[in-house]
Amino acid sequence: MDSIVVTGNGPLSGQVPIAGAKNACLALMPATLLSDEPLTLTNAPRLSDIRTMTALLQSLGAEVVPLQGGQVLALSSHDLIGHLAHYDIVRKMRASILVLGPLLARAGEAVVSLPGGCAIGARPVDLHLSGLEALGAEMELREGYVHARAPRGGLVGGRVRFPLVSVGATENVLMAATLARGSTVIENAAREPEIVDLARCLRAMGARIEGEGTDRIEVEGVERLSGATHRVVADRIEMGTYMLVPAICGGEVECLGGGLDLLPGFADKLDEAGITVRATEDGVAVSRGNGRVRAVDVTTAPYPGFPTDLQAQMMALLCLADGVSVLEERIFENRFMHAPELMRMGARIEVHGGTARVTGVDRLKGAPVMATDLRASVSLILAALAAQGETVVNRVYHLDRGYERVEEKLSALGAKIERVAA
Ligand code: EPU
Repeated sequence: MDSIVVTGNGPLSGQVPIAGAKNACLALMPATLLSDEPLTLTNAPRLSDIRTMTALLQSLGAEVVPLQGGQVLALSSHDLIGHLAHYDIVRKMRASILVLGPLLARAGEAVVSLPGGCAIGARPVDLHLSGLEALGAEMELREGYVHARAPRGGLVGGRVRFPLVSVGATENVLMAATLARGSTVIENAAREPEIVDLARCLRAMGARIEGEGTDRIEVEGVERLSGATHRVVADRIEMGTYMLVPAICGGEVECLGGGLDLLPGFADKLDEAGITVRATEDGVAVSRGNGRVRAVDVTTAPYPGFPTDLQAQMMALLCLADGVSVLEERIFENRFMHAPELMRMGARIEVHGGTARVTGVDRLKGAPVMATDLRASVSLILAALAAQGETVVNRVYHLDRGYERVEEKLSALGAKIERVAA
C-alpha cells in the first residue's frame, strides 16, 4: 500500500487548477441511465471513485468511454442489459445507490445492494427509499439488497418531504422524477452546488425542473430524455482544501476554476480566522500574513453552511490557531477519526461525541500517521505541510478516491511531498 511522505518547509505559493467535482460527477454519471442517447461529461475528475462508478454502469450495460485521459466521459445507455447493482461494487462506494432512481425510472425495476455503514457513520439509505416510494415504487429488502419496482406504466409524480437534508436522496428522487408521470415536488431538498449541477445537466437532457439551489424543487415529468454535453462544476471541497494550504503554511495560493459562491460558509470562517480570501478573475486567492490564525468555532451544516467535507481539514488549521476552537460535527456521527492522528503530531484535541475542542499549539511535529477516510487523509497532509520534520501518511488509497494528482499539485506550490510505493 502506498504512503505519502511530507516534509514541512514553510510558506507555499502559486496556482492550483481545481478539478471537476467528484460528488457532482458521481451523480451525473448515473443520469446516463435515464436516456438512450449519449451523455458527454467534460471536466470530469480522474479519481478511483469515478472508475468505480464506471465499472458499476458498465455492469448494467452502459458504455462509458474515458477520453482525453479521463477528463471527458462519453456515456451511453442505449442498450441496458441489467438492473442489478452488485454488492461487490456497491460496498466499495456508497454513491452506487445513485443508480437506483434512474434504473427505476428507465427500466421499471432495480436491484441494488445496500451499501452498509462506512468509516464516518452508519449512513442509512431510508430517505432514498421513502422518496422513491412517494413516486409509486415498491421496495422490498431481501438478503442485503433493495428490490425496487415501479408501478405498471411507470413512476408517478408525488410530493416528497425529507425529514432531514440529504444530498444523495435528493439526487435519486430528482433523477427518477424527470421521467415520472405528472409533477413532483421535493421539499427540504438539499441545496448543494452538486444538486444544481445535476439539475442543469438533466435540463440540458430535456427535463423540466425548477427551484434547484432552493429547498423546494419542482419537476414536471417528461416522456423521454435526450442526450447532452455537460461540464462538471468545480470541486468545491478540493478548492477548500487548497485554500487551507496558505492558511496553514503561509504564502498565497490561487485556486483556478472555482468561485466563492461554491463555499460561502467556509469562506466566512476563514475570514473570521484572519485569513485573506478574495475572488480573482480566474478563481479564488487566499493568503495569510505573519502571525497566528485566530481560533474559531465551526459547526458543520448542509449548504450554504460549513461543509462536513472540510471539517477535518479545518481542524488541521485550528490545531495551530491562537486560542481554543470548538468544532461541532452535525452531519455524520463518527467523523473525528483524524483527531487522534493529529494528536500524534502534537495537536491538543479533546473529542466528546460530536464535539471536538482544539487548543492551538505553537507547532506540530512530523510523525507516522494513518489515513482513515478521504477527508481525514488530506487533513493529515495539510498538517504535515506545516509540521516540523517528516510525516509519513499511510493508507493513502483513501486519498486517491477524491484528490487528483495531489502530490503534483502540492509540489507545484513548493511543497516537499512524495509518494512511496509499498
Ligand atoms: N441520511 C439518512 N438517511 C438517508 C440518507 C442520509 O439518515 O437515506 C443521513 C446521513 O447518514 C447523514 C445525513 O443524512 O447523517 C446527510 O447525508 P447525505 O445523504 O446528505 O450524504 P450523502 O449523499 O451520502 C454526500 C457526499 C458526501 C458528503 C455528504 C454531505 C456524495 C457522493 N457524497 O453524501 O461526501 O459528506 O453528501 O454533504 O455526494 C466525501 O466526499 O468525502 C463525502 C463523504
